[in-house]
Amino acid sequence: MFSELEMRPADPILGLTVKFKADSNPNKIDLGPGIYKDEAGNTPVLECVKAAEQFRVDQENSKAYINSAGSALFNERITALNLGEHRVIAENRIRTISTPGGTGSLRIAGELIRTTKPGATIWVSNPTWANHQGVFTAAGLNVKTYPYYDYENKCLDFDAMVEALKQVPADDAVLIHACCHNPSGMDLSREQWQEVAELARDVGFFPVVDMAYQGFGDGLEEDAYGVRLMADVVDEMILCSSCSKNFGLYRDRIGACSVIGKSAEQADIINSVLMPVVRTNYSMPPAHGAAIVETVLGSEELTTQWHGELKEMRDRIGGMRQLLVDKLVENGVTRDFSFITRQKGMFSFLGIDKDQVQRLQDEFSIYVVGSSRISIAAIAPSNVDYLAQSIAKVL
Ligand code: LMR
Repeated sequence: MFSELEMRPADPILGLTVKFKADSNPNKIDLGPGIYKDEAGNTPVLECVKAAEQFRVDQENSKAYINSAGSALFNERITALNLGEHRVIAENRIRTISTPGGTGSLRIAGELIRTTKPGATIWVSNPTWANHQGVFTAAGLNVKTYPYYDYENKCLDFDAMVEALKQVPADDAVLIHACCHNPSGMDLSREQWQEVAELARDVGFFPVVDMAYQGFGDGLEEDAYGVRLMADVVDEMILCSSCSKNFGLYRDRIGACSVIGKSAEQADIINSVLMPVVRTNYSMPPAHGAAIVETVLGSEELTTQWHGELKEMRDRIGGMRQLLVDKLVENGVTRDFSFITRQKGMFSFLGIDKDQVQRLQDEFSIYVVGSSRISIAAIAPSNVDYLAQSIAKVL
């Protein structure tokens, strides 16, 4: 069976952590995967999550199967968190299922699209999360790209994006990041969202919105502005969301896939197609993370606590953006890195070349994705001087 197999390269993001762990340099920094770290370099379990877990331990009385859609309570509460009091909920046009993380949601979305339209194409931003291409290809979709980030000027290439989206054939899917664009940190403004939503409606492409970082940009409500607007303007779309980052539930694998149809009847039909997609994949989603999230969101006290903890993470990342830029200046770097403070969420591109990325790793034990994407969430006052000095040296 396996004798013809050849070694494949490690995952461009996850492979870095393997190298990082094996590195004995005490100054090493892992700026690879998007995992929030506090000032001490730890990724602690949120206090609200601990409390919800304790509550579940005391209350849970069965581990029997739920069903392919997962917990109905989680599905209802995550939909309200993502979409607020949106009319698609009142109109009964949305069906949400729990999924194994945001990646599981994207895979299910891809398979639903392929099942509906075999041979369909999905357009993703250039650049996009390194795993999007693989997930959608594995789901049986063709993947194409539209321009997004202007590497030269470190901003959005919105005109080129619009021109490309105008050419997308009707019924092709287009993936759009809801907020905290991964990997560039460059988000659409409200006016730009309006334009893209109207394009989706007029051109007729099918929006798939990926919201993996709600609460890490400007706030829970602010970060959901674009997806809510899109759901207002178009009749049909998919929202893939994740609780990995905002609830810190990375390894518990909980996310959601919400499909919006033209009518309640159509939503039921879509749901009936969605269920076997799940059933033939993993049968049912894991329940633990969903139980935690539904417990937090079902308690006013825990929700308030969660808002505070999320704000702390968001503010710390924002502070580190500014501190890194200041430290680069302090270390004599003349190149303008101020764009980092204008970007949102966990990531930005440093904008250095592949050799410089490699030198950071080889000479300074600083691990950065090959595209020069850095996870700002791993920077702390204790490592920022070393980081800025090292960047200054490779520049
Ligand atoms: C990232 O982009 O680093 C995160 O989404 C983690 C992952 O799974 O790649």
